[in-house]
Amino acid sequence: MKMQLKPSTCLAPLPAVIVTCGDETENNAITLAWVGTVNSEPPIVTAAVRYSRHSLGLIERTGEFTVNLVDTPLMRAMDICGVTSGRDTDKFAAAGITRGKGVKVKCPHIEESPLSLECKVIKRVDLPTHAVFFGEVLDVLAREDSVKNGRPVIEGLIAYTNGLYRAAGEQIGSYGFTAKRPEK
Ligand SMILES: Cc1cc2nc3c(=O)[nH]c(=O)nc-3n(C[C@H](O)[C@H](O)[C@H](O)COP(=O)(O)O)c2cc1C
Repeated sequence: MKMQLKPSTCLAPLPAVIVTCGDETENNAITLAWVGTVNSEPPIVTAAVRYSRHSLGLIERTGEFTVNLVDTPLMRAMDICGVTSGRDTDKFAAAGITRGKGVKVKCPHIEESPLSLECKVIKRVDLPTHAVFFGEVLDVLAREDSVKNGRPVIEGLIAYTNGLYRAAGEQIGSYGFTAKRPEK
């Protein structure tokens, strides 16, 4: 028989990302693991932000944010953006990351990130601890080495599980492998 534990989300590993927000006047970078994919056409992602975060006001004010995927070389920056606040720290300087000029949004992206998803907030849902922003992805800005045949290459991300950072990597299967006919 299984043991019954207190309710918790338990959904892990999650890809930790750095969300950039704000505009030319004031901008910031916040590490988030509670991000999700919720719609294909148009592409929509969610970002769950605690009410205490400085970034929340910036996202609310501009109605935009950019999701920057994080690979291993960005792990240190990701941690810094997750333990310091934009209230008293220039996280771009502290983390050694470069502001890229937004293309479809006013907020900057991170030049060093493999893929940056520029998003427009289309909906906000206020839950007891987190505000959930639904962002329509307006475009994807890719580092040169993160594109293959015109498509984004998603690899080398960091899997966040219960306070630990792990490399998300080894391929162990492929979509629909159970439906494929065995090779003769
Ligand atoms: C790996 C990691 C994941 C995090 N995930 C979230 C998250 O999903 N939502 C959230 O509100 N805070 C999350 N945080 C905490 C914020 O990044 C942190 O409180 C940050 O200092 C807030 O910055 P700000 O005050 O400049 O907005 C996470 C931190 C780390 C290190």
